[in-house]
Amino acid sequence: MARPVLRTALCDLLGVEYPVISAGMGPVGGGSDPAATAPLVAAVSNAGGLGVIGGAGFTPDELRDEIRRVRAMTTRPFGVDLLLPSNYMGGVDVDRLPADPRDLVPAESRAKLRQIAADLGVEWCEAPLPRAGIPGASSRPGGGMSDEQMETVIEERVPVFASGLGNPGPWIERLHASGTVVLSLVGNVKNARRVADAGADVVVAQGTEAGGHTGRVATLALVPQVIDAVAPRPVVAAGGIADGRGLAAALALGAVGVWCGTAFLVADEANQPDTQKERILAATDEDTRVTKLYSGKTMRNIVNPLVEAWEASGIPAMPMGLQNILTADLIYSVRKAGRDDLLMNAAGQISGLLSRSRPAADILADMVASAVDILTRRLPAAVTASAGA
Ligand SMILES: Cc1cc2nc3c(=O)[nH]c(=O)nc-3n(C[C@H](O)[C@H](O)[C@H](O)COP(=O)(O)O)c2cc1C
Repeated sequence: MARPVLRTALCDLLGVEYPVISAGMGPVGGGSDPAATAPLVAAVSNAGGLGVIGGAGFTPDELRDEIRRVRAMTTRPFGVDLLLPSNYMGGVDVDRLPADPRDLVPAESRAKLRQIAADLGVEWCEAPLPRAGIPGASSRPGGGMSDEQMETVIEERVPVFASGLGNPGPWIERLHASGTVVLSLVGNVKNARRVADAGADVVVAQGTEAGGHTGRVATLALVPQVIDAVAPRPVVAAGGIADGRGLAAALALGAVGVWCGTAFLVADEANQPDTQKERILAATDEDTRVTKLYSGKTMRNIVNPLVEAWEASGIPAMPMGLQNILTADLIYSVRKAGRDDLLMNAAGQISGLLSRSRPAADILADMVASAVDILTRRLPAAVTASAGA
């Protein structure tokens, strides 16, 4: 049978068959590798969408290897996503850390975390010295979290770059010069204007229902407001989209495509421990919470008793980077105790819709076929509409 046709301006811009992007998803709680690695990325790109590597968590060299691994698995376009947060490490110079980085965080907060661990029956262990920041961090004072990784993205001339947090503005000229299309995720109109003014080619408007780092405005409210704010720049919708209904709705809002995380997080090819996939598949619509516990920024996760205890504690969260130092001993203790149920398990409110794991190509094909059915048959059959005389 002929393949269904579903094309928008995004397909021409990215060189893909369908306007569906699998989100660049970084490390998850059960392992330190990102969730969106070469097998998922290549599967989505080979199926006609755009697969995106979740580059956060890779060293610059690991990222280069992963990009090359994707290129060995597909000849189609793909992307790399990195987090570019402002206020990384609260401005602390990562080259001049105290001998024990724990000295950077309040002792009182650490004592409260220790009490939380005790209340949850987790024996407290000191982690080997917490890693200051993450692998792509700049060695330049005041540099960003992903400066070194960005050099890899530019050198490798990847087809698409997506910034998950922050503003890709400082990099855009060099990215464009190496032929890279730039996407930028935002959670409100103010940031949409900022990244559009900086020259991002596509704005990805991500609603609060999304898994992972997320803002406060819901997708249905956010997308049209972002479209109006950045017109004529194309806008992709994200947050809570996992099937053809979500895809068709996003197109009806005026988006040129969708960026889906949770839907592909349970794909066979996603680099996510089975126990974590199972918790997403078992979750209902109400089983996620937004918490700063795991990164210092608001992140939507499957709820667990540690998240609830953190939220009830009133411990002030620290800037990204420092929060990982604050919680290093706690998370290390949780892992050592084998309490994987307390680890980060980022996922969106759409988890309640998902009930089985399957190949990414099937998820994509169903999404497209159902959206085509809605747009060509179900809507015209269910809705009588006429512009009038
Ligand atoms: C496990 C997980 C990890 C994520 N990691 C990243 C990341 O590293 N960079 C990023 O831009 N977005 C990240 N996100 C957010 C996704 O890019 C995407 O915007 C979100 O999942 C869309 O909402 P949905 O989950 O409802 O589809 C992550 C999401 C999840 C669920």
